[in-house]
Amino acid sequence: MTTLFSAGTIGAISVSNRVVMAPLTRARADMEGLPSRYAAQYYAQRASAGLIITEATNISKQARGYAYTPGIYTDAQIVAWREITEEVHRAGGKIVLQLWHTGRIAHSSLHDGKPPVAPSEIQAGDMVFTEDGAARPSMPRALELDEIPSIIDDYVLAARHARAAGFDGVEVHAANAYLLDQFIRDSTNRRTDAYGGSVENRTRLPFEVTKAVADVFGPDRVGVRLSPITRAVGDTPLDSDPVGTYKRMAERLGTLGLAYLHCVEGQTQGDNAATSFDFQSLRRAFGGSYIANNSYDRTLAVEAVATGHADMIAFGRPYIANPDLVERLRAQAPMAAGDEKTFYGGGAAGYVDYPALDGVTAND
Ligand SMILES: Cc1cc2nc3c(=O)[nH]c(=O)nc-3n(C[C@H](O)[C@H](O)[C@H](O)COP(=O)(O)O)c2cc1C
Repeated sequence: MTTLFSAGTIGAISVSNRVVMAPLTRARADMEGLPSRYAAQYYAQRASAGLIITEATNISKQARGYAYTPGIYTDAQIVAWREITEEVHRAGGKIVLQLWHTGRIAHSSLHDGKPPVAPSEIQAGDMVFTEDGAARPSMPRALELDEIPSIIDDYVLAARHARAAGFDGVEVHAANAYLLDQFIRDSTNRRTDAYGGSVENRTRLPFEVTKAVADVFGPDRVGVRLSPITRAVGDTPLDSDPVGTYKRMAERLGTLGLAYLHCVEGQTQGDNAATSFDFQSLRRAFGGSYIANNSYDRTLAVEAVATGHADMIAFGRPYIANPDLVERLRAQAPMAAGDEKTFYGGGAAGYVDYPALDGVTAND
């Protein structure tokens, strides 16, 4: 029987257990998009995860939405990420890069005062981090139809760079109301061209991006993240028919032979039991391996893998303060709580100084 601790494969990637480190933005990069100098240590400390998904990483300068987030569009960034993948591999782990374009959830101060780009000219609420602190995202401009191929090209280039940096694969971030999800949802997409209107048109860009990225890495090293019922980021309203829309998205992605589909199974960081959305229908529509996320604890995770609900379980917040999460789950040991004040920004504190259970920081 497969358990949370069974080895296996996800696409072409062999994994030593079914625990995934979920993507976690920590806002410790510099303004050139170079990952934190502590990032290699941070990720290597967590290398006992079956799979690490990195923090969301900007595919281009235009993709940036928040200050102090890393990129994968310059040579220096590739070199820095290579050091990180090598450390993780030395520690026996597997690591994929989450490819990010923030779309309208961005501030013009990151774009020389120019507006960020989005499917349509609809301003996000909520806030993003700038060099001067928190600010409301700027009014975006709608992408012209003839600009869309260059967005796909940016994803392709980012995937090539990720390969050069030694990643085991990439995850296309089509969740949490960022650019690709802005295309999917009719609440943020009012286009009247081939990329707006019908479900087929709204799922077109995420599909085309994923297909193009799969051509770079091989489809079995590419995953996609979706969050059909998450509204928090950018205060983004849901699609008017999340079940129908995301099921079709999953079905289209299923034709590509991808490594996995990764779903945030509720309102991010909320209680999954509060929703009646049937994530198994998404999984069936996709037809391949499935990573479940959102507020999983040990009991729920063990059960989800044992019953076949999911192939792997991604943990986000628990990974901040528990570098040895797999060992703690195995031993049914207590979990440390992370300090929210150091979730975003800063240096080593609250980042690489959470100890493993025996008091020694893992893989130091
Ligand atoms: C500090 C922090 C940063 C996050 N950054 C990302 C990110 O870069 N990309 C992403 O897809 N989700 C991100 N998330 C969402 C998590 O991956 C995850 O979906 C969420 O925390 C729920 O899982 P959990 O209950 O195991 O924490 C972030 C969450 C937190 C708390």
